[in-house]
Amino acid sequence: MKADPQPTIGSTELQQAVEQAVRRLQQGGLVAIPTETVYGLAADASNQKAVQNIFSAKGRPADHPLIVHLAAPSMLDASLANRSDAWFKLIAPWVRDLPEEAMRLVETFWPGPLTLVLKKDKHVLSAVTGGQDTIALRSPDHPVAQALLQAFGGGLAAPSANRFGKVSPTRAADVSAEFSDQADLLILDGGDCIVGIESTIVDLSSGTPVLLRPGAITPEQIEQQTGVRVLQAGARADSDKVTPRVSGSLKAHYAPNTPLRLYAAGAALDCISQYPDTKSHVALVVWESEQMRDPQVLGASHIHQIPIPEQSDLFASRLYRLLRDLDDHSWELIVMPEPPMGQEWDGVRDRLQRACFGSGPPVSNHVSS
Ligand code: TXA
Ligand code: MG
Repeated sequence: MKADPQPTIGSTELQQAVEQAVRRLQQGGLVAIPTETVYGLAADASNQKAVQNIFSAKGRPADHPLIVHLAAPSMLDASLANRSDAWFKLIAPWVRDLPEEAMRLVETFWPGPLTLVLKKDKHVLSAVTGGQDTIALRSPDHPVAQALLQAFGGGLAAPSANRFGKVSPTRAADVSAEFSDQADLLILDGGDCIVGIESTIVDLSSGTPVLLRPGAITPEQIEQQTGVRVLQAGARADSDKVTPRVSGSLKAHYAPNTPLRLYAAGAALDCISQYPDTKSHVALVVWESEQMRDPQVLGASHIHQIPIPEQSDLFASRLYRLLRDLDDHSWELIVMPEPPMGQEWDGVRDRLQRACFGSGPPVSNHVSS
């Protein structure tokens, strides 16, 4: 295992780390890479064996498809009169249909935390797509990921760099902790992930754009900036037939080992009191502006308040780090405020609800994934 010290962009260290990573990938190895959302566990998307190694390293079922990460147009291409052509050339080899709506999304949001599901080209390995006829593509907005993609020159299949069903890593140290048994895993350290939750996924393979996973980029934002309307998953009458497998859509996902519950505004103490086993060590996460002065809380030595920001983007950027840090302590219960309504909170709400459902020791009757 190697968690290199974080290299500075443009430095010789980064260049050397990238060169080493490229060699690993060319040999069919795995490399953990930083992105703006979460760390990914990357392999050459055109190497079947390398892709299969991802599934065994993660303990992920082989029919769960992966996202292929692509380089953004180089500075040279970007200066072409038509930047759209440059994107088109990069994406076209992977897909057999590139709707005009997809190009509008690419031009507006790539590189960035938006994954597009499109009809796949015939050369795409079915190990990558989980046997589906579609492929998920994204170009990450992280300088280290882009440096690697440029130097590698191909697509990188990469799921989040965590064991299946567990909280995604947002720091290099989280990846080391997840794969502590894989001493030779190369980890590129790109610092803390800024977005903090996985990319928004939009399916454009079936005519009507459908949201498969909420993230930092919301359907409202997409419509405002591109005019493309994205339906919520399930909005289509035939959604059970057309929505492809998304492992993040399993109920129990992104789960910490410590039991986690959400409380409605003003009901934190009720929530704690409903948890009968708890005599000590409750982590009570509270909105920064609402730290409780209630004597019942202040006087309770077993309840520790942990403030969290009220802005959805800051909350998201801290969420997984907070869950991991809390999980490393011997709390018996973590309680967090229910996120407010509104699309900018949908990504966070989705991850928190799944984290609650799957949290706790793996003995209960929930789907353990
Ligand atoms: O932000 C992200 O998207 C991160 C970083 C590393 O890029 N990646 C990530 O990968 O979250 P993963 O494998 O943990 O989640 C990718 C999701 C899965 O739920 C998968 O089922 C879905 O994308 N997916 C991949 N290919 C698909 C396809 N062809 N159709 C539908 N869903 C697909
Ligand atoms: Mg994942």
